[in-house]
Amino acid sequence: MSELNQIANKIISNGKGILAADESNGTMTKRLTAVNVESTPENRLKFREILFSSESMKEHIGGVILYDETINQTTSFENSIPDLIASSGALPGIKVDTGAKNLANSKVEKITEGLDGLRERLKKYYELGARFTKWRAVYSINDKYPSNLAIHTNAHALARYAALAQENKMVPIVEPEVLMDGDHSADECLNKTSEVIQRCFEELILHKVDLSGIILKPNMILDGNKSKIKISNEEVAQKTLECLKKSVPSEVPGIAFLSGGQSEIEATENLDLINKHNNTKFIMTYSYGRALQQSALKEWSKNTKDKVLTQNTFNHRAKMCSLATKGKWSKELENK
Ligand code: 13P
Repeated sequence: MSELNQIANKIISNGKGILAADESNGTMTKRLTAVNVESTPENRLKFREILFSSESMKEHIGGVILYDETINQTTSFENSIPDLIASSGALPGIKVDTGAKNLANSKVEKITEGLDGLRERLKKYYELGARFTKWRAVYSINDKYPSNLAIHTNAHALARYAALAQENKMVPIVEPEVLMDGDHSADECLNKTSEVIQRCFEELILHKVDLSGIILKPNMILDGNKSKIKISNEEVAQKTLECLKKSVPSEVPGIAFLSGGQSEIEATENLDLINKHNNTKFIMTYSYGRALQQSALKEWSKNTKDKVLTQNTFNHRAKMCSLATKGKWSKELENK
């Protein structure tokens, strides 16, 4: 087993998943403003420190993805944030893309940037304690999109990023996210997501990326959020498995889904059903942002000085997600 493969497995094995706490300052400001908390570096740190020192970090969180601001911050106990995360046994990770920008010659599509100077930034992040990285590509979906251009350029950038991350001894999370916005059907999502993922792997292979040392972070197969038809959670699980079975090479150790705007319960239930039916050798786990943090953030905003209720809320969500990685979640457990 390569060192990268060992790191990947450490992050996602034994019922553990990833806490995606790498919201950029812009995104975090939106989240904090929505619950009437001022978005300052201190407040962003306070909330994140509460999560990172929660009990569930030990059992249910194998890795935390950080944003550049956070990885450089110091906790109220004068620890570095990577040290705080590592003290629970989880690995610190870092988002290294610099965001999705308008793709030239395409009206609505995006290309993720951040390759310039990436090698040097990766070295700095490794020294700060990061052992894995993330790069997110986003794809619009309708009858015209994603275009061949968006699929090709984003796959190319993801592969160049992944090769550089591995060169610097860090596991790349490869995140091609087909958005849920729109009135498309789940079958369209299945076809387009399969094509996007397959093209990503073609580029990863071309760039000689060690596939046993990456984690794939895809969307689940869902109807568009404006679609009148809604398939069942069972169908979401079946279609998601169908997509991954035909698109992901067997060397890849695991798949950690994004929540992408699903509610906390929906994201948990779908992951649970995926694992109840998982007849692949891939580990299927979570790398959730909103679906792990939403209720905890709401709780915290009621009284930012009280960390107990916030941690209890986060611990519960992390435990439910962890049960879902084993196909052992049920609705009744949500109310216990
Ligand atoms: P969500 O789970 O909120 O979609 O966030 C995951 C993520 O890391 C998006 O890049």
